[in-house]
Amino acid sequence: MFTLDHRDTRSCLFKRANQQLRISICSTQLIRVSLSNDQPLPRRSWAVNRADDAWEPVEWSIAQNSAITTLETADLQVNVAHADGRITFTNRQQQAFFSDVGPATYNADGWLVTKQIYNSEHFYGFGERTGWLEKTGQHFLNWTLDPEPHHGPRIDNMYATMPVFMGLQPNLCYGVFFNTSFRSSVDVGATDAALLSLKTQGPDLDYYLVLGATPADITATWRELLGAMPLPAYWTLGYHQSRWGYDSSSTMRAIADELRARNIPCDAIHFDIDYMDGYRVFTWHPERFAQPAQLVQDLAQDGFNVVTIIDPGFKTDPDYAVFAEGLANDYFIKRADGSLFSGYVWPDDSAFADFTRADVRAWWGNLHKTLVDAGVRGIWDDMNEPTVFDRPFSEGGGNGGTIDLNAPQGAADERTTHAEVHNLYGLLMAQATYEGLRQLRPNERPFVLTRSGFAGLSRWATLWTGDNSALWEHLEMTLPQICNLGLSGIPFVGVDIGGFFGNASSELWARWVQVGAFLPFCRGHSCSGTRPAEPWAFGERTEAIARAYLSLRYRLLPYLYTLFYQASTTGAPIIRPLVYEYPADVATHALHDQVLCGSQLMLAPIVRPGAEYRSVYLPAGEWYDWWTGERITGAQHILVHAPLERLPLYVRGGAILTLGPVLNYTGEAPLDPLTLDVYPSGTSEWTLYEDDGISFEYEQGLSATTHFSCIETAQSINFVIAARQGSWQPAPRTIVVNLHSLPPKAVLLDEQPIECVHADGAITVSFVDDGLTHTLEAKL
Ligand code: NOJ
Repeated sequence: MFTLDHRDTRSCLFKRANQQLRISICSTQLIRVSLSNDQPLPRRSWAVNRADDAWEPVEWSIAQNSAITTLETADLQVNVAHADGRITFTNRQQQAFFSDVGPATYNADGWLVTKQIYNSEHFYGFGERTGWLEKTGQHFLNWTLDPEPHHGPRIDNMYATMPVFMGLQPNLCYGVFFNTSFRSSVDVGATDAALLSLKTQGPDLDYYLVLGATPADITATWRELLGAMPLPAYWTLGYHQSRWGYDSSSTMRAIADELRARNIPCDAIHFDIDYMDGYRVFTWHPERFAQPAQLVQDLAQDGFNVVTIIDPGFKTDPDYAVFAEGLANDYFIKRADGSLFSGYVWPDDSAFADFTRADVRAWWGNLHKTLVDAGVRGIWDDMNEPTVFDRPFSEGGGNGGTIDLNAPQGAADERTTHAEVHNLYGLLMAQATYEGLRQLRPNERPFVLTRSGFAGLSRWATLWTGDNSALWEHLEMTLPQICNLGLSGIPFVGVDIGGFFGNASSELWARWVQVGAFLPFCRGHSCSGTRPAEPWAFGERTEAIARAYLSLRYRLLPYLYTLFYQASTTGAPIIRPLVYEYPADVATHALHDQVLCGSQLMLAPIVRPGAEYRSVYLPAGEWYDWWTGERITGAQHILVHAPLERLPLYVRGGAILTLGPVLNYTGEAPLDPLTLDVYPSGTSEWTLYEDDGISFEYEQGLSATTHFSCIETAQSINFVIAARQGSWQPAPRTIVVNLHSLPPKAVLLDEQPIECVHADGAITVSFVDDGLTHTLEAKL
């Protein structure tokens, strides 16, 4: 029998013999449930960025009868059954969600609680997974590892783990953050179609539950609870060229020259493990990379930023100064018996830093000085599940294991074992790297790319989805994978364009770069030993497609950067499944092969060989075909012809897209002209965000926003550019407005008739951007 033991302004504590149950009210929509055996509650939350008492206090009430205690906020009710602690949740309309079907139980395997799955309920998120968008009927293990190659839809856990998901019922949406870093799992109707269960090997059962009206409410809460993604440096939105096998300065220069000679836009070159001296992290190979600073500087002159890979394993070589320093300072993880833990990675026998300790993170961060001093601009954290090979790499070592689960970790006052912090290794490594870079270059936004991570990773790093393969299935998997990561609070993500393992056909690479050009993180990467995989390695036709789509990405960067700003300030994913914008439209609930890039653009790629036609679903509303300008009314499926050069791309009616010039790299020229592509439909608006794209001065308000609005009636289209707000000044520029409209009778700029061109279904008007209000009116 649970009895209410204690109540304060934010929570209720229930007790029975050996258990405590705390229900905390973080907001009217966000509730935390923690259940424990005699532990003081709640315990440490590794990934939570906002403590329960840091939320604005809200009104809530409590009512009790002999059987039930009910906690009620303005948005929801939590009912706790006294007999067994069973919890049910309802919204204000008494619609139940995420409610227990029985008491939570604890045994040698840890905690288990089972919830009801309701009719018409759908599930999304669960972090980094293979498979389709909608996740009903599956089991999700939360345990980071390097999966076997060619991972297919039946594989479970992978490199990163985010125990974050979303349930969607008619008129109701909720999100769950399963707050456990221990090995845990979520069974979503896999064992019993009507039941969802949460299991953890941790000592308590702890989850946050948020109720929202839409998926956007849920991602906004993840941003508040798990932390916001800081704005990335503008150059990181460009194309990144990478390959395992670029093994000398001359190769790097040749790749860079080739990119420029062929006008393939690119902002970054990644240095994989071969730049190091015998895979010793924070070293350069003395012959093949003899003058790193010179190389990095040369590349920078051509507009390339260098990103170097760093692995967590330190070669256990007493003559290697970095290892010796770490050993002397006791920074490495030890076994339970006190001996140094070591395992095989690239440099064979290696030791691993204990990133749970602040002093170790600070040391690690500062180790990046040698790279930063050489001019390196970004760091790529790899193998941080952490992965330990089953035999030496020099003997062909393969994926195998990880650090001993009983290895002690953590500072003296919060000692634990690897079992609790295994899933956090990538997150904490990324944090240490980010903080180090920020300290070393205080006014430059760090770029950290990571393979492993945990919930809340976006505060520190960009995630890529590891070693995919050059398979059509992996191209097809890209969109649902990116979407579910976005719904799990990880907006800045990408995949290896073309596939890491194996050899893509020209057709596959062409179709892949069309998708990759719209992903938040856009990088071509491939495994050593595969055929060359640069954009020109697949023949002229594919090269031209790569140039066209990467150039389109660069033109769209002003739009994309605003999407990053939205992600940073509201938590909205950059790539969104249609269900995110149209949750009430059942046709979107399992739609995995079309996505929105922000709210305004929709891509529906071809993901099958030889296919030139596909069906595209246009949700209700007006749509414009990007290529033809044709205006199409939605709430229908259309059959689309998409020969190899064509990615089916649609603009949502009402969109005001901001485009820049074609560039070879982001720093090549200022944003001039700024093109506003206006696609009228009823009343619509958009706000462009701009800043210097590199410093943290935006945090002090050095940024600018420009609000645009458009009203379309039968008689006219009225487009207004409001005066620019904020203290940041863009370089002098021209504004070009393309108003997609029928031939007008007259066009007025600021109420004066103006000459304009009407071609390809759009009126084009240009004028100097003086930052002031301007009105463009087309009389129809
Ligand atoms: C594994 C990474 O996933 C891959 O991208 C990289 O090329 C290799 N490690 C070598 O560093």
